[in-house]
Amino acid sequence: MKTILCDSYEEMSKAGALIIADQLKAKPDSVLGFATGSTPVGMYTELAKMNKNGEMDFSKVTTFNLDEYYPIDPKNQQSYRYFMNENLFNKINIDISKTFVPEGYSSDSTAACKKYEKMIKDAGGIDLQVLGIGVNGHIGFNEPAKNLKASTHVTDLTESTIEANSRFFASREDVPRQAITMGIGTILKSKKIILLITGENKSKALNDLLGDDIITDNPATFLKVHNDVTLICDKEAYYGRDNTQER
Ligand code: PGA
Repeated sequence: MKTILCDSYEEMSKAGALIIADQLKAKPDSVLGFATGSTPVGMYTELAKMNKNGEMDFSKVTTFNLDEYYPIDPKNQQSYRYFMNENLFNKINIDISKTFVPEGYSSDSTAACKKYEKMIKDAGGIDLQVLGIGVNGHIGFNEPAKNLKASTHVTDLTESTIEANSRFFASREDVPRQAITMGIGTILKSKKIILLITGENKSKALNDLLGDDIITDNPATFLKVHNDVTLICDKEAYYGRDNTQER
């Protein structure tokens, strides 16, 4: 894995946006995989700015998001569909009908998962997948567990993720207990992957990534088997508290 070490969150966001810009220059009709959470917000702001300045064109782009709560109405302000529209899609020249988020509103979640996996395949696969990482090492909603899933599936959220995400909801009880997420295999089939990592609380998860072990307790460590992954991290995540992580 390649690592880009950035001085700040802003620098990390710009570095991510530049990689996406290069991708679209090389292939204007790229299929992009997007992530939610607070980490990529700065990069999305950067992408919107570059699009406005005429430096990037999203008109031919198709997107697939990693995950969505289940069940959730896409109009719910906590849904990832809503998040993507607000933070990116409404601010760029993308054809909204070519932006896909798992159907958290479907009455048949198993069918929704199968359909999502097929749609990604039919689109030719994901050219560039953007990832964030959970404090516990999750990617998408692939939570630490004894067994991980390869394909898009419904998953129970762990207590630590419910706790971490409750900051976005009125109360902890309002956080959905399940989600639909791409599986580890879905993610690893992407041709290229960038993983944005910011903040000291992610340094343990990042430390596992820099070692050689692949462990289901830190699902992101499976990225080590992929041959085109770039970690873009800020100093806080890379060095941890008081710079005590050994490198
Ligand atoms: P965060 O979430 O960017 O809000 O920290 C990342 C994740 O949980 O994958």
